[in-house]
Amino acid sequence: MCGIFGYIGHRKSAAEIVLEGLKVLEYRGYDSWGIALLESKTDETKIIVKKKVGKIGDAKISDLPAGHFAFGHTRWATHGGVTEINAHPHLDCTSQFALIHNGIIENYDEIKKELEKKGHRFISETDTEVAVHLIEDNYKQLVTVYQDRQTAFRESVRKAFKRFAGLSAIIVMDSKTNTFVAVKNGSPLVIGKGEGENLLASDAHALFPYTRQVYFMEDDELVMIDKEAISVYRLDTGRSKTVQFAVLNWKSSNVQKGRFPHFMLKEIFDQPQVLQEIIHHAGGQVETLHKLIKHSYGTYLVGCGTAAYACLAGTYLFSKIAKRHIKFSVGSEFGYLVDFLTDKSLVIALSQSGETIDVIEAVKKAKEKKSKIGSLVNVEGSTLYRISDTPLLLGAGVEKAVVSTKAFTAKLAYLILVAYSLAENPAEGKKALLTSYKAVNKVLEETNLKIIRKLAKELIKKDHIYIIGRGLSFPVTLETALKIKEASYLHAEGFAAGELKHGAIALVEKNTPCIVFLPNDETYGASLAGAMEMKARGGKIIGISYKPHEIFDEFLSFDDCGAASIIPAAVIGQLLGYYLAIARGIDPDKPRNLAKSVTVK
Ligand code: G6P
Repeated sequence: MCGIFGYIGHRKSAAEIVLEGLKVLEYRGYDSWGIALLESKTDETKIIVKKKVGKIGDAKISDLPAGHFAFGHTRWATHGGVTEINAHPHLDCTSQFALIHNGIIENYDEIKKELEKKGHRFISETDTEVAVHLIEDNYKQLVTVYQDRQTAFRESVRKAFKRFAGLSAIIVMDSKTNTFVAVKNGSPLVIGKGEGENLLASDAHALFPYTRQVYFMEDDELVMIDKEAISVYRLDTGRSKTVQFAVLNWKSSNVQKGRFPHFMLKEIFDQPQVLQEIIHHAGGQVETLHKLIKHSYGTYLVGCGTAAYACLAGTYLFSKIAKRHIKFSVGSEFGYLVDFLTDKSLVIALSQSGETIDVIEAVKKAKEKKSKIGSLVNVEGSTLYRISDTPLLLGAGVEKAVVSTKAFTAKLAYLILVAYSLAENPAEGKKALLTSYKAVNKVLEETNLKIIRKLAKELIKKDHIYIIGRGLSFPVTLETALKIKEASYLHAEGFAAGELKHGAIALVEKNTPCIVFLPNDETYGASLAGAMEMKARGGKIIGISYKPHEIFDEFLSFDDCGAASIIPAAVIGQLLGYYLAIARGIDPDKPRNLAKSVTVK
C-alpha cells in the first residue's frame, strides 16, 4: 500500500517534482519512501535510487542531479520490514529497470524460487522485487522477438503482470527507452497529460499543479507513457484501445493547520462548520438517499474503521427514527455475506477517502449481483465515487489527520437527516442537528478542554481503558476506543454495556478507568447499572453524560440533543484521544503503523 508519483517531460527537476508529489500522497503510507531518477550524461544513462526510512516531512533532495524522468513511492509495509532496502523503487539485476508497486503479489514465493534458480539475485524481503526480476527475465527473451525495444518492454511487463495473483498496481521505468509502463488491477492509478510532459499518480489531486487533464486507469489496462505520448492497451490481448481524458475542475486543496498544532485538532474544531454546512446544504442529497432506500428491497451499509462505526450507528438511527431494518457489515466481511443480495438490494458505502480497498471490493461484489450502489464519500472523484451509481459527497472538507474525526461527524449528520426524512419528519432532523451544532461548540470551549486535558494526563498512567454504552451510544464507545488506540497507543475497548457481565467485567480491577456514555434516552438506567457494577469492583467511573451523577469519579458533559447526542459525545471521545496522544508525546496526525487510506487487503 502506498502513494505513487511519476514524471517524464521537459522540466529538468523531475526528482523535486516527484518529491513534492509524494508529499501530497503521504497519507497513503509513511513508513519509508524512495525515488528513482534517470541520469542522462552523454556517455552513459543510469538510474539513481534514493531511499529513506521514515516520513517525508520536509525532506529535500539536493543531492540528486537534474533529470527529466523520475518516479517515487511512499511505503506502508506489507511484505518485509521497514528498511531502506525494502523501500521502493526496486531494481533488476542489470539496473535497466526500476519498479514501484502498490498491492500484494500473493504468489511471489513460487516466482522468486524460479527466478533464483535462473541466477537472479534478490536483495530485499519484499514481494515487489520479484516483479522487476521477472520483467528483466521476460525482456531478455522478448527483445529478440520484437524489433522495437518499447514493444519488448511493454510485453515483458504485460506477461509478468498476468502471472501475479492478488490486487496490485506496478509502474516500471525503462532506462533504455525512456518510458514508463503502468499496469493495474485493484489499486488506483491516474495518468495526467501535460504539454511536453506526462505524469502519473495514485490520486488525481497530486497532479493538479501540472495538469487537469487526466485518465483514471481501469483494472486490467496497461499504459505506456513517454514525454510525448500516452498509449493504453488491454492486459489480456495486448491490443491498444482508445480512451477519453477528462478535464477535472475540482477545487485543489492546499489546507494548512492554521492556529492549531495538529491537523487532528484543527479537524475536530472544523466540526461545527461541517454540521452547519450539512444543516443548510444537504437537502438534495438527503432526498436522494431517502428515495434510494425507500425503493430498495433491503439496504446494507458498508464501511471500515471509523466509517464502520458510523454504519453501525446508522442501523440504530434507522431503526429508532425511521422504523427500518437496515443491515451493516464491515467492508472486509461483506464478501462473505453477499449471497442474499439481488438486483433490488441497495448497498450504501461510507468512506472518507473513497479508496479503502475492503470497501471497494465489497461494492464490486454487490455490483456483480446487480445491486444498486449509493455512497457517502468525502473525496470527489475517488474510486468509490466513480464506481457508485449514486455517489454523494460528505462535504467535510479535506481531512488530513490519519485519525478520522470530522468525516465521522459528517456521516452521522447525514444518517440522522436521512432517518428523519424517511420518518417523514425532516424538520425534526434539522432541529436535532442544530442542537448538536451548539452542543459541539460548547464541548470545544476552553473550560471543557481543560477538564479533558487533566483527565488525559491521569489516564496515560493506565494500561487499559474500558468504555461502555448501549443503543446509539454503543457505536460511540467503539469509535472512542478506536480514537484512543490510534492516537495514543493505549489499550482501550468499547463494549455494549449489557455484554459487560458476560466477560469483560473480569478485567476490571481497582482504579481501572471505565468510561460510560449516558445520554438522555432509554439506555440511561441500564448503562448506569453497568457503571455501578464496574464501580463495585473498584473501577474509576468517567461519566460522559448530559447530567452529573454521584457515582462518577470524573464527569464530562454534553448538552442533550436527542438522537443527535451521539455527535457531541463522539467529539468528547475524539478530544480524549487527541489529548492522550499529546500527553504521551505522539504525533496524532501520523500514528505509527497506520495510513489514512488502506489500499491493500
Ligand atoms: C484507515 C484509517 C481509518 C479509517 C479507515 C477507513 O484504517 O486509518 O481512520 O477510518 O481507514 O477509511 P475511509 O477512507 O474508507 O473512511
